[in-house]
Amino acid sequence: MSAYFERMKKKTDALRGRDDLLILGIESSCDETACAVLRGRQILSNKIASQVEIHKRFGGVVPEIASRNHVLAIDNLVKGALEEAGVRQEKLDAVGVTYGAGLLGALLVGESYAKAFAYALDKPLFAVNHIRGHIAVNYVASPRLEPPFVCLIASGGHTAVAFAADYDEISVMGTTQDDACGEAFDKVARVLGLPYPGGPQIEKLAAAGKPDISLPRPFKGTDSFDFSFSGIKTAVINYANTLKMRGEELPRADLACSFQELVTDIMSDNLVRAAIARKCDKVVIAGGVGANKRLRAKVEEKAAAAGITAFYPPVGLCTDNGVMIAAQTACMIRAGRQCSDFDLDADADVRIE
Ligand code: KG4
Ligand code: ZN
Repeated sequence: MSAYFERMKKKTDALRGRDDLLILGIESSCDETACAVLRGRQILSNKIASQVEIHKRFGGVVPEIASRNHVLAIDNLVKGALEEAGVRQEKLDAVGVTYGAGLLGALLVGESYAKAFAYALDKPLFAVNHIRGHIAVNYVASPRLEPPFVCLIASGGHTAVAFAADYDEISVMGTTQDDACGEAFDKVARVLGLPYPGGPQIEKLAAAGKPDISLPRPFKGTDSFDFSFSGIKTAVINYANTLKMRGEELPRADLACSFQELVTDIMSDNLVRAAIARKCDKVVIAGGVGANKRLRAKVEEKAAAAGITAFYPPVGLCTDNGVMIAAQTACMIRAGRQCSDFDLDADADVRIE
């Protein structure tokens, strides 16, 4: 244990119970370098350097290229976020950084930077679970939100429904047995000839289509909260291949619409059923797919019908950002979690629990 860590443990204990903490959040787990400053639940700055245009030509994220671009972006981004927030770095109470899940090389860039930054300023450093960050951003987006609630995690790497009993107490109620929903959106988009990332492209194309192509619904007739998307994805691929062999034109908009309707139906169903099973009157949407307007509308509608209130972040806070990492740092401090020492490592496969 380092002398720095001993000092930081004491500093962290002195932060507990405060709701006006000044926190810097750093995120570099995939293809966005992101950084934000929060004071309590208020966003003082929110900076994102997106690499989408760089990775688009490869049809997906290339890990090594992502890491290099994080290195190029991170220092300016952190300085820009502090400047925009009007905060001197010495005034920060804590620094939070994503340690997983994500691409190992990309995670290490953010972590190395955050370690050096926190050590140089003698500030406590928190290792943030990216998936929990997606949940925690809702506390900033909806300042009145408090646990307990049931939450849908719908991102490019994870899909689950979970019960949030407290600020950093999450237990999974159902999870995907194969692909994540964002992954399914991205793969189906590729079949439809749409560029990466596929989710927003499918949403756009689906607006011009009809949901009249029948696709298989997994776990039909069961009361499971689990998900499975690979059968739906395969059905889309088979449908496209059959038409291609027959020389017929692919009804791309109808296929996008049918896929989106089914997947958003399954996710909104599982979320609201899980809340009813828990006798919980609040549901929350988290993660990049949460930006999907059909998903948001269906969750609102089904929740309202069951007397449940639905919360979700604005579209810009659904996909990866620094606010979510700062928000989860605040949750960790509030929940009595400890800060990290120098030996903090990255973990590509961190789970929700
Ligand atoms: O949470 P996120 O930004 O990154 C991960 O932690 O994985 O999620 C990215 C995923 C991608 O698969 C992307 O296609 C999907 O979120 N996505 C959407 C929409 N916007 C982003 N999926 C459906 N509809 C959208 N509007
Ligand atoms: Zn994410």
